[in-house]
Amino acid sequence: MGKVLLTGDRPSGQLHLGHYVGSLKNRVALQNGGEYDCFVLIADVQALTDNFDDPQKVRDNVLEVALDYLAVGLDPTRTTIFIQSLVPALAELTVYYLNLVTLARLERNPTVKAEIKQKGFGVSIPAGFLCYPVSQAADITFCKATVVPVGVDQLPMIEQTREIVRSFNAIYGEVLVEPDALIPDDRVSQRLPGITGTDTKMSKSLGNGIYLADDADTLWEKVRAMYTDPGHLRVEDPGQVEGNVVFTYLDVFGTDRAFIAELREHYQRGGLGDMKVKKYLYEVLDAELAPIRARRAELASDPGAVYALLREGTEKANEVAAATLREVRAAMRIDYF
Ligand code: TRP
Repeated sequence: MGKVLLTGDRPSGQLHLGHYVGSLKNRVALQNGGEYDCFVLIADVQALTDNFDDPQKVRDNVLEVALDYLAVGLDPTRTTIFIQSLVPALAELTVYYLNLVTLARLERNPTVKAEIKQKGFGVSIPAGFLCYPVSQAADITFCKATVVPVGVDQLPMIEQTREIVRSFNAIYGEVLVEPDALIPDDRVSQRLPGITGTDTKMSKSLGNGIYLADDADTLWEKVRAMYTDPGHLRVEDPGQVEGNVVFTYLDVFGTDRAFIAELREHYQRGGLGDMKVKKYLYEVLDAELAPIRARRAELASDPGAVYALLREGTEKANEVAAATLREVRAAMRIDYF
């Protein structure tokens, strides 16, 4: 059995550094390793489950997310990048999989539970939203993905997918493949904090993000505003590095380990001002982000070319889906003609 990678993102906003260290870096590395057949989907159907009243936002962000993908190095000659809604087989698989999942199981998914609370749905939960993990199982299984690089918040989705695969195969025969999640090794990358403090995860809805599309000035403004040690009032005071977002980021993005260790010690001892450390962090981040930003701007100048790439990827995804669907229909005894 070949190695197949599938992952994706909801197009409900641009992608930020949390996405970058949490999943984008992993998928680009695996793509470049050449061992995997790679698929990345822009999950517009899933984005509509909680943005059904704002379709233009979803449409606009399909392009934004595609630009982010291409800018970080997803290469359409090696990775099939496609739009979820344009692969109708995914909707068909979802309908079949819904029989294999109970309402109680859907209500138990911890990520969905947290989102329901956060979005304030109360008792009026849209059925489509509650069922999106089933649609995600269709996304993952249509190409028989073996590995799914995701952030830790997505682990319950992979678990639910594995359960669906096991029930399907037990009832209808061995057609589907159980996928494994792939998460970053280090804890901070698994849950990158936002710029306002280490207790909050970087997230669009909290407005604490640094985006791949941010220009250099915006990046500096965000680094300048970063949460440090509120007790570090004068330069001479000893400072705390635990919970200090600037040092947390240096751990994740910095490469000069020895210099960072020295900065940390100096800060703890006293005599090192926040601005100095922030300037250094800005340089570190800008070194990583400047090439991404430049590539993104170039691609953004020709949206037609980006849509053409998505169209090609979507055609390929439909071919793969058609093959799986044939097997699924045969296994389910609904292959009449
Ligand atoms: N749930 C993911 C998110 O919120 C997006 C997604 C949709 C996905 N389908 C997927 C991720 C399949 C991995 C695999 O960003």
